[in-house]
Amino acid sequence: MNFRRCRTMIVEPVERAHFDLDALLAGGSGVGFEQSLQVRAAHLPAPCTVDAVSCLWLLQCSAEQWQPLPAEPQARQRVLALLEQGLLVSDDPAHAGAAAVEQQVRDSQWWPLSALHYQHSRWDGVDSVGDMERSQLMTAQDLVRSFGPPPAEAPARRSDARPLPRCDEDPMQAQLQARATCRNFDDARAVPLPMLARLLQQVLMAQAQVETEPGVRFLKKNIPSAGSLHPLEAYVVARNVEGLPPGLYHYHATAHELGPIAVPPGDLDSFCQRLLAGQHWFANAPVQLILVCRFERMFWKYRGHAKAYRALTLDAGHVSQAIYSAATAQGLGAFVTAAINEAEAERGLGLQPMAEGVLAVCGVGWRAAERVTAELDPLGQVWPVTR
Ligand SMILES: Cc1cc2nc3c(=O)[nH]c(=O)nc-3n(C[C@H](O)[C@H](O)[C@H](O)COP(=O)(O)O)c2cc1C
Repeated sequence: MNFRRCRTMIVEPVERAHFDLDALLAGGSGVGFEQSLQVRAAHLPAPCTVDAVSCLWLLQCSAEQWQPLPAEPQARQRVLALLEQGLLVSDDPAHAGAAAVEQQVRDSQWWPLSALHYQHSRWDGVDSVGDMERSQLMTAQDLVRSFGPPPAEAPARRSDARPLPRCDEDPMQAQLQARATCRNFDDARAVPLPMLARLLQQVLMAQAQVETEPGVRFLKKNIPSAGSLHPLEAYVVARNVEGLPPGLYHYHATAHELGPIAVPPGDLDSFCQRLLAGQHWFANAPVQLILVCRFERMFWKYRGHAKAYRALTLDAGHVSQAIYSAATAQGLGAFVTAAINEAEAERGLGLQPMAEGVLAVCGVGWRAAERVTAELDPLGQVWPVTR
């Protein structure tokens, strides 16, 4: 068996505070600090704890040249332990799964720090609402109690600033003002398929294609995209769409059609609940749109590029704003969130980790008659102002 180090990894020295009775009895503060070294690899979803000797050895190990298992028992034991953690990869069929995932990251053109950031900011099994409730950080009052007041809502005005004219009667202003993130959906009222189709046509459909040379095509959409690459795909979770069986679909931007995908084990509702990390105010939207990036398309041009991942998240922001606008124009409520269990979506949609990935989830549907969960609507655009 031959082995080598995974190529992209970072060591994080972690210090965790803990109660130390001995330190307290000795007249100290009673707070001790436990140090550990955590290695984060771009192909592994969770950090691995390693001892200092193994860590130094790992850093010195080649990520390019294969080497045979050492004969010396202690060194051999160390290599086997690091192989078990996935920080080393081998050509042994027993480690083929880990080696294939690592190879996939090697072959991609991720900028290493972005790969580490994306991999380790993905959630799996997080219940964000439960976490917020447990830490009592649900409301603005909770936040102020814990953290003090926030920095000012806007920076100080300049004394030499020039006043600007206003154009309040512009119809576009009225349209933009009518948008508010919806956290109160009527999940019993179906969204007619033509309304969903219209939204997809306006936001995500390719309006035209440009072939720069044989087989090399760029799409023109109503939203901008870095490098005109349009690497974002939308997967539609149809919970309640009139004229469409409930299920998961992939939206095809050039064909303007929905391709069915096998629904993950369990029902659609529990998939949405897990996908949205427990945010029940979003999970019951009749339609969810999972924004998935085809990283390879983006990294074809932006190879190992420090700005590529930032540009991708900006692309996702443009999609979500356009979804808000298109939904609002049809009288539908909409939302966007990044507080999602990406790993859940990857499994459900059968995505290839680190080659394709989820950036955000949007949703649309009819608003409920009653506001149960808070929304930011101080101008009373959606809900009657209560004084
Ligand atoms: C990138 C992004 C992530 C968001 N994530 C959440 C979220 O996890 N949960 C939520 O309830 N709202 C989320 N929102 C909605 C914001 O809370 C909302 O935009 C903000 O409160 C302002 O309200 P408005 O959209 O009605 O103007 C998100 C918005 C954006 C742009």
